[in-house]
Amino acid sequence: MRIARTLPELHEATAALRRRAGALTLVPTMGALHAGHGALVRAAVARGDPTAASIFVNPLQFAPTEDLARYPRDEAGDLDKLRAWGCDLVWLPDIATMYPAGAATTIVPEGPPAEGWEGAARPGHFRGVATVVAKLFGQIGATHACFGEKDWQQLQVVRRMVADLHLPVAVIGIATVREADGLALSSRNRYLAADERTRAPALHRALRHAAGRLAAGAEAAAALAEATAALTADGFAVDYFALVDGPSLRAIPALVPGARLIAAARLGPVRLLDNLAAG
Ligand code: PAF
Repeated sequence: MRIARTLPELHEATAALRRRAGALTLVPTMGALHAGHGALVRAAVARGDPTAASIFVNPLQFAPTEDLARYPRDEAGDLDKLRAWGCDLVWLPDIATMYPAGAATTIVPEGPPAEGWEGAARPGHFRGVATVVAKLFGQIGATHACFGEKDWQQLQVVRRMVADLHLPVAVIGIATVREADGLALSSRNRYLAADERTRAPALHRALRHAAGRLAAGAEAAAALAEATAALTADGFAVDYFALVDGPSLRAIPALVPGARLIAAARLGPVRLLDNLAAG
């Protein structure tokens, strides 16, 4: 597995990989890798083309109120995992490479699917995501890129950006990896206290219950209100629990093909996100 820390090192490594295969699959990450990232890297490797992973904790996607300094970092552990998962190349840029002095261009997703939900809760977040992902696509010359469905809105924002900017990258969504009790894997789960960890799977259970109610013909407004009430009774502070059109993230009043249930709720210090296909 090759490791690149500068653009010349990266370009030398990606040119060699592309000579081998023509295609190159990217798995963008912010490190602190867990089995969810493992599923993305393994899916990329299984495609048969060389796989590159990037590790960059992107300051531009953190709101001023969010603690960038506290974001978990474990470079040595991440490199061991990427090696074991079969990754060919790791891109480890520093801040000055990603945001050189004088840089003046960012990508600002406007309207659906970026507005609302995470876009409203974390102002500027998707500007940071879109900008860094576009830079990574360009630096690496990725032909394919894998993103987790766990961050459903992020996946749709990236798909929208790729379509809008005519980027020659095929975006592949990978199913959420869950603990045995249903909790979606996330780097932030490590901040749950023991009792919160025990209660956290209630979010996934509420999504499944709501999906079942909708499939059985319940009114969406009633199913969503029940889920929110149940989670609140369990000690969650619910930011949103909504039924949306999958690609656009527009709230919808009833099931349509491709509908998605999305939820964000705080448990203690941790803001949990999850989503599920509805109907
Ligand atoms: O999902 C993440 O880890 C990040 O948002 C991403 C896509 C690596 C961009 O920084």
